[in-house]
Amino acid sequence: MKGHSTEAAVIKALKEKHGDCDYISGEDLAAQSSISRAAIWKHVKSLRQKGYEIEATPRRGYRLLSSPDALLAEELFPLLATTTFGRTIVYKDTIDSTNRYAKELAEKGAEEGTVVIANEQRRGKGRLDRRWVSPPGGIWLSIILRPAIPLQEASKFTLLAAVAAARAIETAGLNPEIKWPNDILIGGKKVCGILLEISAQSDRIDYLVIGLGINANNDLDTIPIDSREHATTLAAALGKKIDRRSLVATLLLELENRSKTLLAGGWQEILDEWMKRCRMFGRHIILRMLHGEVEGEFVGVDQSGAIRIQLPGGEIKSFAAGDVSVKKQRLT
Ligand code: BTN
Repeated sequence: MKGHSTEAAVIKALKEKHGDCDYISGEDLAAQSSISRAAIWKHVKSLRQKGYEIEATPRRGYRLLSSPDALLAEELFPLLATTTFGRTIVYKDTIDSTNRYAKELAEKGAEEGTVVIANEQRRGKGRLDRRWVSPPGGIWLSIILRPAIPLQEASKFTLLAAVAAARAIETAGLNPEIKWPNDILIGGKKVCGILLEISAQSDRIDYLVIGLGINANNDLDTIPIDSREHATTLAAALGKKIDRRSLVATLLLELENRSKTLLAGGWQEILDEWMKRCRMFGRHIILRMLHGEVEGEFVGVDQSGAIRIQLPGGEIKSFAAGDVSVKKQRLT
């Protein structure tokens, strides 16, 4: 990732001069990164290919004219306050699925915190083997983690990710809520989904891939017609486009901090926050599973994140997976 960090440094230096509409010489750029002027020129060409408009004028140097609206490592690095998460970023304009690619990288030994991020996915994966429509303008990212926890505790990372995503979305001035198992809704409509994939040998986790899909600045019309009634985008909820770069930087910081809390034994704290942010308590719900459905009152989640439902007879039962619909009226 050396190229990335040099290009991030070149962009940072160009941006610092950008405000004064000033040039920076190739010599100065080269000295700052301890590389040759020829190497700087190669990086400038690569940055242009990524969408940066950089003017090169003999004897004056380089000047940044505009930056692309893309979640490039060069754009994200200066905003990142994490120590591990997102320190390696693989950006793709178009990809089949960031989760699929993150798993491929993890198999090859990619380190903890590696992030794969795309502007568009052609075969985005949703929960329960569903398709996840991922047009340009959204935030489609996957992060590789290698936590030293028992396999049966891995699902805690989905709840943790939901809390982190809700916190990040809140900083954009919105009022998100969590819907079991790990959807983030605004005004009752889904803006974010989370897909956790696990690779393990017996009880030992090899790696986790947490995939987060956020409808951000993508056009509302790109949401499939059958789910449009139940989904929205951050831009639609906010009435203007959001700054995807700061949202991603905040999200990665929240994920890193929540993950530290969990690994330091603070699971109850995360669970409490999940419960606080989940507004389903006392609601009459229907849980649809692969084989049948149950109806009852939502009474929370257990330690593994399974949903707890009070059935009409009064008995409380836990269910690990399924789809929840919340009925309009409360149970009396
Ligand atoms: C859901 O069904 O609610 C989960 C959707 C998860 C979508 C994200 S987008 C980034 C990552 N890559 C994928 O292919 N899926 C996840």
